Amino acid sequence: MKLHRTLLTALAFTAGMALHAQSAHNMVVQTNKVGAEIQPTMYGLFFEDINYGADGGLYAELIKNRSFEFPQNFMGWATFGNVKLMNDGPFERNPHYVRLGNPGHGHKHTGIENEGFFGIGVKEGAEYRFSVWARGENQKIRVELIDNDTMGENQAFVSKEMDINSKEWKQYEVVLKSPVTDPKAHLRIFLTSKGTLDLEHVSLFPVDTWKGRKNGLRKDLAQALYDTKPGVFRFPGGCIVEGTDLETRYDWKKTVGPVENRPLNENRWHYTFPYRFFPDYFQTYGMGFFEFFELSEDMGAEPLPVLSCGLSCQFQNDSEDAHVKVCDLGSYIQDALDLIEFANGDVNTKWGKLRADMGHPASFNLKFIGIGNEQWGPEYPEHLKPFVEAIRKAYPDIKIVGSSGPNSEGDQFEYLWPEMKKLKVDLVDEHFYRPESWFLAEGNRYDNYDRKGPKVFAGEYACHGKGKKWNHFNAALLEAAFMTGLERNADVVHMATYAPLFAHVEGWQWRPDMIWFDNLNSVRTCSYYVQQLYGHNKGTNVLPLTMDKRAVSGQEGQDGLFASAVWDKDTKEYIVKVANTSDRVQPLSLTFAGLKKNDKLTEGKCITLQSADLDKDNTLENPNAIVPKETAVSIDGNVLNVEVAPKTFVLYKFTKTSNK
Ligand code: AHR
Repeated sequence: MKLHRTLLTALAFTAGMALHAQSAHNMVVQTNKVGAEIQPTMYGLFFEDINYGADGGLYAELIKNRSFEFPQNFMGWATFGNVKLMNDGPFERNPHYVRLGNPGHGHKHTGIENEGFFGIGVKEGAEYRFSVWARGENQKIRVELIDNDTMGENQAFVSKEMDINSKEWKQYEVVLKSPVTDPKAHLRIFLTSKGTLDLEHVSLFPVDTWKGRKNGLRKDLAQALYDTKPGVFRFPGGCIVEGTDLETRYDWKKTVGPVENRPLNENRWHYTFPYRFFPDYFQTYGMGFFEFFELSEDMGAEPLPVLSCGLSCQFQNDSEDAHVKVCDLGSYIQDALDLIEFANGDVNTKWGKLRADMGHPASFNLKFIGIGNEQWGPEYPEHLKPFVEAIRKAYPDIKIVGSSGPNSEGDQFEYLWPEMKKLKVDLVDEHFYRPESWFLAEGNRYDNYDRKGPKVFAGEYACHGKGKKWNHFNAALLEAAFMTGLERNADVVHMATYAPLFAHVEGWQWRPDMIWFDNLNSVRTCSYYVQQLYGHNKGTNVLPLTMDKRAVSGQEGQDGLFASAVWDKDTKEYIVKVANTSDRVQPLSLTFAGLKKNDKLTEGKCITLQSADLDKDNTLENPNAIVPKETAVSIDGNVLNVEVAPKTFVLYKFTKTSNK
């Protein structure tokens, strides 16, 4: 009997048939009542160096601890022969380097070997740019990529000699072409001459980075971001903005200028979860604020930098000396003002000039700035106030993002929203990592939000399944359902960014995440595709939508159906998004009301994201298991009759043509 039912369900599922004779829900889109504008920033990306998202991830550097500045200076390196650590190098903020000397006998070797981030991933036929700052006269090194397999081979598969001949420090470069694919190679450098030589900032990048930039980004990962069409790009985090103490907060000024001189910072994610401990996780700032702005520009997304408000992470450290006194906030406020100058200032200003020197004389056209991440209590508004005053005075057009704390409701949240209103910030950042029940219940969260106060930035969210805190289809489906509520309330919700973005399969601290990767490949999760479907189909205006004569809210009496409708005035498209969170086939009659006599709906498309197995997601081994599928649909006049399969996210799109 059970088998029989399962079979029937499966048949109905694939054929899109109703199991029970259920009457259709009547959805009506009011096409002649074009509503609130949907902000270009509506759907975007949140970036943080968590899960090896930057170093070891998006930032394409393949060498770990390239400047020998980790607290254990040789972490990530093996040394052999005569290797000395020195600390009077050419880069003030990264003074360490290595001196390779004669090993003492003609047949012995001196050298160093780097293990990369979980190995060094190289692909057959691809080129890798090795570079190093070196000092030495008439010396030679051999640079090799070696396999590191467990069979004990450890032999070079590509090798190049380099002459080093400079009394002063100079950068040398050579390109290595890999004859093999190896996810876990090592880099080895031998001293092959008799003498002494100094090496600093040892670096290896794929030549083929995103946009071919030298200090560039991993192409597949940057492409995945670009492919979501993000409207806003928030960086550099998250908790790393705040620091465990003030010293370790993210200080943007340390992340600009020549990469060799950007100092190392700890990464709090290396120790945040003892059960996911990564003692070799640090921030080199190789991907710094210039690179973040550049990436925003490449993606056509508004940059949204978030800065420390002088309070370090209150979860981790609430001691008094972990916070700056309000009267001492001067340099922090100046950092915020200088950042705006760095992004937008004329090339004759101090910080505008630095931007130009780094290769971008044109303004980055920064419009938004966030101050503070997940701060709470009266300290936060007290600290935020002088920032707001100073930024308003110097840059009245910049929009300021404040925070509502780490929780989506509760005392801190209730306290902070009115405070944000008092301070008249432009947007308030809300965070919600919540279970299925929350996402189902909150589809109408913004329906009754105050329309006169600050706008909402849903700055970090993801469905964390109860007992299933990893990526799976059902979580993505509920995110899609919840997002219909963001969209229907686009007059008050101006930005939304899923979080976190990236995770290395061997180095994650937090999941679920939007994009997973190893050293060679990456995979876009179901949550990624939900974000992408919204990003590509956001439209320009909200349209009123009812179901069975009631406003759609996804709540009681609406059979687990969530929906939103938009108009895109540029492409002349109507787009209706429906998430069927129920386990029933749902017949739907979708009427596009209010069309003019000569208007026709053509080019009907139906895009579906669906998985029969709710616990499944895409994997590196099977990256296309669950991807959006597009089919053509035809409409009878202005009414579309369809059956929405159980547990499905679906978009219906029609182009309006006027026959005159
Ligand atoms: O996204 C992971 C973390 O979650 C962020 O760093 C922080 O803002 C939130 O608590």
